[in-house]
Amino acid sequence: MSQFFIKGGLPLEGEVKIQGAKNAVLPILAGALLNQGKSIIHNVPELRDVNTMISILESIGCKIKKEGKTLIVDSSSIHTNEVPEKLVREMRSSIILLGAILATHKQAKFSYPGGCDIGLRPIDLHLKSLRELGAEVKESHGYIYCKSSILKGCQIQLDYPSVGATENIMLAASLAQGLTIIRNAAKEPEICDLQNFINKMGGQVKGAGTNTVIINGVSKLQDVEYKIMPDRIAAGTFATAAVISGGKLTLKDVNIEHISSVVSKLQEGGSKIARYNNSLTIESPKVLKAVETIRTLPYPGFPTDMQAQMMALMTIAQGTSIITETIFENRFKHASQLIRMGANIKVDGRVAVIKGVEKLYGAHVSAMDLRGGAALTLAGLAAEGETIVDNIYHVDRGYEYFEKSLQELGASIIRIE
Ligand code: EPZ
Repeated sequence: MSQFFIKGGLPLEGEVKIQGAKNAVLPILAGALLNQGKSIIHNVPELRDVNTMISILESIGCKIKKEGKTLIVDSSSIHTNEVPEKLVREMRSSIILLGAILATHKQAKFSYPGGCDIGLRPIDLHLKSLRELGAEVKESHGYIYCKSSILKGCQIQLDYPSVGATENIMLAASLAQGLTIIRNAAKEPEICDLQNFINKMGGQVKGAGTNTVIINGVSKLQDVEYKIMPDRIAAGTFATAAVISGGKLTLKDVNIEHISSVVSKLQEGGSKIARYNNSLTIESPKVLKAVETIRTLPYPGFPTDMQAQMMALMTIAQGTSIITETIFENRFKHASQLIRMGANIKVDGRVAVIKGVEKLYGAHVSAMDLRGGAALTLAGLAAEGETIVDNIYHVDRGYEYFEKSLQELGASIIRIE
């Protein structure tokens, strides 16, 4: 299993271009099934999760060509609607394909994606919504069997503003008969990117970014060319890396509005921010102050995908921070690893109390999930001495050439295979 080997204490300086958004490209790749034709998708990040999604699409018959950061997807000759179990297990968010396969191939067989490192991650809202659209959904022996002669638009009230369920409904409903209204829809920017992609194919979706998304089903969708939005979590991660290392970074190709909740917390800690059109400069403060309360919430609240990185930062802030993780039930696994590095953290259920310490010390730690792995890497940048982070395949799922970008910014970090 590959590792990062980090020598801490070097401030990051310079500029970093933010990658395309992982959580936008995955549902958009599912959307590439809808036109049963050609989709040219630009600004695709080089990630394990993207490669997994490409393998899934190829396994059902899509032809995919990669030209740098552009993917050319031909979904005209799908030969099966059964997604291989091994690939579904590798990436639970592959459930996002269900709506698109149903909409175009009328039936689908999926192994139950099951939980992952950060929680149970049920899919009840996905399945309930597809049933309301007229699909017959059966779950047995660890498999989900779906079929639908025709999907009919309807009103769907989501019990929770689930990002994936909102996306699955948008994908299924875009080729359904009639109007679908999603109430209590997720408002994340990735939902807007998916809406723009579907509309560019000739779809009729509106309301993304609000809690009500309206989809008017059409009979056919066209070939499309589209550019993926910047990754707001990668942007937040690099901004936090600048602060934890005591440095100064300029983030290029970033949508500042998408990270306003993260920027405001970093400013609360004393960081200096300068905003330009689509770039942002962040400078760490002389004295990092603790941010008293951080509560993860659906967008535009503080993102759960930045919780681990913020916890790492707060371990060396002056004062006490309280982090409440309201989205996932098991997303504090990085706390035990930060404690190995000298952090003072108490976890009680969904609440973590972090008492800032003078400094962290390098240690041998293990990544347990994607964002926790990024957080431990950031902690290693700040720690005195050497840190080894194990299982960095987690980090490769969501960050493009992470250690290379950090090296170019002045960090002493290498990958050990
Ligand atoms: C998406 O996951 C993101 N992944 C996650 O990013 C992100 O943390 C999450 O949204 C929240 O913003 C992708 O977009 C690929 P949810 P998703 O459905 O769609 C519960 C990362 O690090 N729920 O909004 O799975 C669920 O258990 C990843 O990049 C149900 O109860 O998130 C959770 O508590 C991690 N039933 C809450 O809703 C359902 O049917 C939020 O889940 C679906 C969800």
